[in-house]
Amino acid sequence: MAKDDGKVTWKESIWNPRTGEFIGRTASSWGLIILFYVAFYIFLAAFFCLTMYALLMTLEDNRPKHQDRLVVPGLMMRPRSGNPFLEIDYMMEETESWDMYVQALDEFLSPYNDSEQAKKNYECVSDKYFFQSDSGSVKNYPKRSCQFHRSILGECSGLTDRTYGYGDGQPCIIVKLNRVIGMLPGGKDGEPPFVTCAPKIYGVSEDDTETTEDTDKMGQVMYFPPNGTFNLMYYPYYGKKEQVNYSQPLVAIKFLNLTTNTDINVECKVTAPGINAVNVKDKFGLKVVFRLRVNSRN
Ligand SMILES: *[C@@H]1O[C@H](CO)[C@@H](O)[C@H](O)[C@H]1NC(C)=O
Ligand SMILES: *[C@@H]1O[C@H](CO)[C@@H](O)[C@H](O)[C@H]1NC(C)=O
Ligand SMILES: *[C@@H]1O[C@H](CO)[C@@H](O)[C@H](O)[C@H]1NC(C)=O
Ligand SMILES: *[C@@H]1O[C@H](CO)[C@@H](O)[C@H](O)[C@H]1NC(C)=O
Repeated sequence: MAKDDGKVTWKESIWNPRTGEFIGRTASSWGLIILFYVAFYIFLAAFFCLTMYALLMTLEDNRPKHQDRLVVPGLMMRPRSGNPFLEIDYMMEETESWDMYVQALDEFLSPYNDSEQAKKNYECVSDKYFFQSDSGSVKNYPKRSCQFHRSILGECSGLTDRTYGYGDGQPCIIVKLNRVIGMLPGGKDGEPPFVTCAPKIYGVSEDDTETTEDTDKMGQVMYFPPNGTFNLMYYPYYGKKEQVNYSQPLVAIKFLNLTTNTDINVECKVTAPGINAVNVKDKFGLKVVFRLRVNSRN
């Protein structure tokens, strides 16, 4: 009975020879469905391309539209070693224990060779911002970058003292500010930003202050260039595409009288009137902390 009342069998549900249906649909029905989806996907693709195109049109060629993440420039230190915490720890009398620091500094400073800089960069007027604006639709491109000669770093340049003081227990470190497009770190009045290093004491409160004892352990430091300033002429930075040869300015710090065989936590920070004071609280912004230990058998 059941078989005769027009109920479809399992086989017929796939292909029904009586009605010419394939999985319940006729050929023309299937054709329409396929046609609909093809048209639908073509429309989607076209729509995607159109919105993408519109989005790209609103972006400037040479400048990222969003750089929220980089508004607080980080202070970077070289030589960079020790994970996850930065540290410099070596034995004065063992060359192989500090040779890696010297090599890292050599490599890092090599693009700052005076001849190299003279070849690719421009001699700027120091102590003031180097603006290179575009006049209307005429792009000032490519923009020039200022020379930074490693010789400015004096005893920390690796030129006069090839070991950067590591062999004498007077090591140098070098710091630089991360690039932030358009940043004027010296503020409107152009007070040059500068670096200072001091012992960092962990403990009691957030605003830890150093004690004389720790200051004695760290000893005197010397800054290159004098006062540890980043010259204003290296700002503003216009971006990698516009300033192809840009060299970030550097500040070197030489520790002149470290107490040996002692851990000293050092914090170097930048004072930059042009960078929002609120951001100074940022853990990683504007400062770098590292452990310094020079061992000696004497
Ligand atoms: C830079 O100078 C140092 C020493 O003067 C030299 O060893 C190095 O090869 C130079 N680097 C470049 C890129 O010229
Ligand atoms: C960048 O440096 C190269 C040489 O390394 C030089 O030919 C070029 O003119 C420089 N570009 C700018 C914009 O200063
Ligand atoms: C170096 O440090 C030692 C111990 O902290 C101190 O006695 C000495 O006066 C310092 N020397 C100089 C030149 O600052
Ligand atoms: C370093 O700072 C002192 C005091 O602020 C200033 O008198 C001196 O001119 C500065 N030196 C340089 C080279 O900027």
